[in-house]
Amino acid sequence: MIKIAPSILSADFGFMADAVKALEASGADWLHLDIMDGHFVPNMSFGPQMCKALRRHSRLLFDVHLMVEHPSDWIEPFFEAGADSITFHVETERHIERQLSRIRAKKIRAGLVLNPATPVVMLENVLEYCDLVLLMSVNPGFGGQEFLELVLKKISSLREMAVKRGIMLDIEVDGGINETTAKRCIEAGANVLVAGNAVFKSADMAKTIAALRGEA
Ligand code: DX5
Ligand code: ZN
Repeated sequence: MIKIAPSILSADFGFMADAVKALEASGADWLHLDIMDGHFVPNMSFGPQMCKALRRHSRLLFDVHLMVEHPSDWIEPFFEAGADSITFHVETERHIERQLSRIRAKKIRAGLVLNPATPVVMLENVLEYCDLVLLMSVNPGFGGQEFLELVLKKISSLREMAVKRGIMLDIEVDGGINETTAKRCIEAGANVLVAGNAVFKSADMAKTIAALRGEA
């Protein structure tokens, strides 16, 4: 089942709760919250207070993507703020298994994120600790960037790795997702797609979300 996780980084920050309600009404599966600290990525977005404020307006799965230098500092605050899933970048953490286990201990979903240039082999020893893996198809920091084709090979080798180990892994792809790139990612083995601009620039959110899923 293909899931669509619209990113609120592309929403109108002056009307965030309305945007989230509109996404839920339009058939979104997850809500992708892009957390940026201005250090790991050259941009800042919002923190746990925003997550907490939106939590009471939505029943969507809150998929928190930490693009921050010290993810271990933010597991507790985002859990308290209502996150259902927390992913952090392998490039930002020395003790990866420890942080994944900390997240899982809270009975929420734990996952890792790979930047475009980071090879899938980095997951070799920790894939069993992941409920999901987020593969970046852009260099993180901004919405509206061009899809990097190099991610397609990574999707298929990660799917192969998970199948070989009998892991029911959600493979999520993030950045430059539109109807064309969504189809290619699904064919390569992805089952969750993040979309910011494609959804928020659309005149008909529900239609776009269905189209990204590959429905007529
Ligand atoms: C980029 C974020 C992405 C981004 C996706 O750093 O992680 O989630 O918001 O936006 P689009 O779909 O517009 O590329
Ligand atoms: Zn993201």
